Amino acid sequence: MLAELDTIQSDALAAISSVQDEAALEEARVGFLGKKGRLSVAGAGMRDVPKEEKKEVGQKLNEVRTAITTALEEKSAELIAARDAAAFASIDPTLPSRPLPAGGLHPLTYVLGEAVKVLRRMGFALAEGPEIETEWHCFDALNTPEDHPARNESDTFYFENGKLLRTHTSSVQIRTMEKVVPPVRIIAPGSAFRRDEIDATHLSAFHQLEGLYVDKGVTLADLKGTLEFFFREIFGSKTEVRFRPHFFPFTEPSFEVDLKLQATGKADKWIEIAGCGMVDPNVFLSVNDARGDAAYSPDEVTGFAFGMGLDRLAMIMYGIPDLRLLIENDVRFLQQFR
Ligand code: PHE
Repeated sequence: MLAELDTIQSDALAAISSVQDEAALEEARVGFLGKKGRLSVAGAGMRDVPKEEKKEVGQKLNEVRTAITTALEEKSAELIAARDAAAFASIDPTLPSRPLPAGGLHPLTYVLGEAVKVLRRMGFALAEGPEIETEWHCFDALNTPEDHPARNESDTFYFENGKLLRTHTSSVQIRTMEKVVPPVRIIAPGSAFRRDEIDATHLSAFHQLEGLYVDKGVTLADLKGTLEFFFREIFGSKTEVRFRPHFFPFTEPSFEVDLKLQATGKADKWIEIAGCGMVDPNVFLSVNDARGDAAYSPDEVTGFAFGMGLDRLAMIMYGIPDLRLLIENDVRFLQQFR
């Protein structure tokens, strides 16, 4: 029996050391240690071993099992290491990694961020309102009469239920004043929609930034100072700002704001950039009606409002010749803004 166990051990170690892959190793394990393996079968012979030899044979049996188990484990580790090495063989782990292309902000996102940063520093808080608006918030409350051309179906997208896609962000002025009492100092960036023929300077969906400041004693000088400061922060301290009398239903007096930039490289030219004015008292009265109080009494408070096109701001900032470039998502265009 002892001799037989020696034979099993040396056969097992020889078999294990000649194994080439993990499947063959498993086969060897089953062949020696499995239920019907050679060592198990030999172990069953313990029954017939005379009593006085049992101890010695038992010890031998354990030794052989340990030797085979150890050899199996060592061989298994060796095969796994060889498999890993093979997997790495075609790879050079010391090579530098491929560079990850850094993303960039869309020019509109960048311009919006800059504009908001400057205005927040001046104490304006962000406000928002829905893009699908009621006629009341978009027109009536803003003192815009039924027969105003902007209300025409050929200029504005209407839904069958009478709602519309807001034609400007000025509706957020109304929505804000409905909710809070003065002083109010907000900016509302967002999309606006008009039924314009699409060309290099018109899109049917565009971006505006609205501003509103209502308090006791707000004057035209505050409006002028605020916008001059704003545009000089954005376009440089040499930027000239001009206020040209204009008409908007919801402000009185009203102005269009033009800029003359120092560094455009082209002949100096005034560029129209924003609309603004002092909030028309009729707007305050509509808001009071909706609120059911006199929080915005025109005898108590005054205010200014302004609205500007962010797409236009981006065009000027980057010298973009065609608005459509901003929405085509052509990487060759967008890649330039990193
Ligand atoms: N809502 C106007 C427009 O879209 C701009 C504006 C805003 C004018 C606020 C005056 C005051 O053209």
